[in-house]
Amino acid sequence: MRIASNSISALISFYHSELNTIYEASEIDAILNLVLEHYLGFSKADIITKKNENLNQSDLLKLYFCCKELKKNIPVQHILREAWFYNLKFYVDTNVLIPRPETEELVDLILKENKTATSFFDIGTGSGCIPVSIKKNKQNSKVYACDISSEALTIAKKNAKKNNTEIVFIETDILNTVLSYKNILSTFDVIISNPPYIKSSEATLMTKPVLDNEPHLALFVEGNDDIIFYKKIIDLCKEKLNANGKLYFELNPLTAGNVLQYAQQSKSFKEVKILKDMSGKERFLKAEKN
Ligand SMILES: C[S@@+](CC[C@H](N)C(=O)[O-])C[C@H]1O[C@@H](n2cnc3c(N)ncnc32)[C@H](O)[C@@H]1O
Repeated sequence: MRIASNSISALISFYHSELNTIYEASEIDAILNLVLEHYLGFSKADIITKKNENLNQSDLLKLYFCCKELKKNIPVQHILREAWFYNLKFYVDTNVLIPRPETEELVDLILKENKTATSFFDIGTGSGCIPVSIKKNKQNSKVYACDISSEALTIAKKNAKKNNTEIVFIETDILNTVLSYKNILSTFDVIISNPPYIKSSEATLMTKPVLDNEPHLALFVEGNDDIIFYKKIIDLCKEKLNANGKLYFELNPLTAGNVLQYAQQSKSFKEVKILKDMSGKERFLKAEKN
């Protein structure tokens, strides 16, 4: 199919007609926001006010080929090699999870609730979106982050540099108690994790762009214990979370209750709470250490 004319509005219609079998209309609009910002420097307001302006041939071609890539189920963030998170731009590719809006909600909560905290530790950092956005907003704090994947850590380091932040990155396997206790030398005021939390049986419910393009190491929990990451991190808090320090998790709503129960039974915390995300799902756990 061809684009009807060189105008922005024709391009918008073209994206909608080409992509409507893969994405909802609202998702196509969100994709267009990212694409037009990336290639043309457009703000959301520009998309409305400049709708009748014409694109030059070179921009039109780039936007046409981008749409062709989107039709192959490649996520827009991988085509552009960038993702926005908490008003910052991050490099992303197939080695890291594309940062999600729920995780932005978590970062926002952490920043609002921990004004006096001076040390933060993010477990399973992926692109580094959590530690970088925390450090950017709390310049005087010490921020640490770990991951098992050396490829993810290379990207997280790149993102720390891109956003002018200094983070201490550690390569470690959080499921290996001996290794993680040996590698993580500090203790922290705040520990955060958005660990792999999707059960293999849920894979059939996931969209093709996610399944085909995002690292399964970041998405899925292997083995019989769906909440193994949460358990290991709750156990780690006994030694690595300071008194009155806080633990924050992003959760799978399907296993939120089990994580809550394990945290309560650990007796490490004076208060443990589940919080809902913007769509009303049980998405976060917050626990305050004794
Ligand atoms: C759901 S992703 C979260 C990425 C990032 N924090 C975010 O919120 O976008 C989980 C991350 O945990 C890492 N991971 C998986 N197994 C791990 C392990 N055993 N030890 C440490 N990190 C691990 C993955 O490589 C991945 O980057």
